[in-house]
Amino acid sequence: MGYDKSIIGSILVPILILLVSTNYIMPCEAHLSTTFYDDTCPNALETIRSSVSATVSSNRRMAALIIRLLFHDCFVQGCDASLLLDGSASEKNAAANNGVIGFEAIDDAKAAVESVCPGVVSCADILAVAARDASVQVGGPSWTVRLGRRDSLAPASATLANTNLPRGTNNLSQLIDSFDRQGLSVRDMVALSGSHTIGQARCVTFRARIYDNTSNIDAAFASNLRSNCPQTAPNGNNNLEPLDLRTPNKFDNHYFKNLVQSKGLLTSDQVLFNGDSTDSIVTEYVDNPSLFDCDFGAAMVRMSEIDVVTGTSGTIRTLCRNAN
Ligand code: HEM
Ligand SMILES: *[C@@H]1O[C@H](CO)[C@@H](O)[C@H](O)[C@H]1NC(C)=O
Ligand SMILES: *[C@@H]1O[C@H](CO)[C@@H](O)[C@H](O)[C@H]1NC(C)=O
Repeated sequence: MGYDKSIIGSILVPILILLVSTNYIMPCEAHLSTTFYDDTCPNALETIRSSVSATVSSNRRMAALIIRLLFHDCFVQGCDASLLLDGSASEKNAAANNGVIGFEAIDDAKAAVESVCPGVVSCADILAVAARDASVQVGGPSWTVRLGRRDSLAPASATLANTNLPRGTNNLSQLIDSFDRQGLSVRDMVALSGSHTIGQARCVTFRARIYDNTSNIDAAFASNLRSNCPQTAPNGNNNLEPLDLRTPNKFDNHYFKNLVQSKGLLTSDQVLFNGDSTDSIVTEYVDNPSLFDCDFGAAMVRMSEIDVVTGTSGTIRTLCRNAN
């Protein structure tokens, strides 16, 4: 019988260790899976991909807008598509979401998915998948999106949005704190900031930096920017400049190369390379673009799983802008 016990033990003990350690490593693992829609909407992923492809082909900046939508949704009440809800005092209209546009890209993807399987695929999952597809479409990395998010019943408050979202004027410790509150590391923060390799920013978001003689900014770069961003607000507030002056429509590591040359557009960009703790991460990404791609994809997975709603909580919205 001692013989049988040792066999049972040799099977059971590793299983127990596995169960305990899995729970220990992932204490609040969301119930997401890569196969979530395999039975209920097998064409969901391909439908989203082709909608995003059409959107980004018609306007490359849409890739940036879609990726930013995911970031602004996930940092406020989790990745629950709450940002997408219309409403006067809502999250969407918070000051921190001024300039967040591109909602029609998600409306289009949702309409395409509804036409193949109505009422099945959440806006939150569509946004997470669309951000991945947008990255790929402009030459960025791909990653596997786990699915099964559900949509919020209501938007978050404007106050929460203004509290949780970092600003372009933030210093390094504010950025680190903001990401830390979402469970994201300093390295995730630097990698995710690399999405500023695409897209545009309005003069109102970088004016202070280009007129501050004490800021760490390349003189010629600042001088060029001043020509399209007048010193006195609100003149030119909405004038756009690329976040990556070299290749604004291509996902690459030039954002980090710019930082090393003091050509970050926002204060929150340049603080990543300004003699502090994150300089070495920026240098790693300058030297090794595939490391950046890899870290970016992994960080996007983590960001896209912040406080997801699963199971029978929340809802599957029919229109992403309207609570059902
Ligand atoms: C590190 C903290 C961050 C700060 C302070 C920040 C701030 C900003 C600001 C001020 C703009 C210009 C917005 C405007 O003019 O309306 C911007 C644009 C953008 N941000 Fe961030 N951001 C941060 C992180 C991120 C992250 C994590 C992502 C996505 C993963 C992201 C994606 C984008 C994109 C793609 C744009 C360009 C959007 C466009 O073309 O309109 N940002 N960001
Ligand atoms: C960053 O900004 C905050 C808020 O303005 C300030 O309290 C803090 O001292 C600043 N940190 C550094 C390192 O400059
Ligand atoms: C500071 O910057 C302004 C532009 O904002 C410029 O006109 C001025 O000459 C600069 N002053 C110094 C001391 O460099």
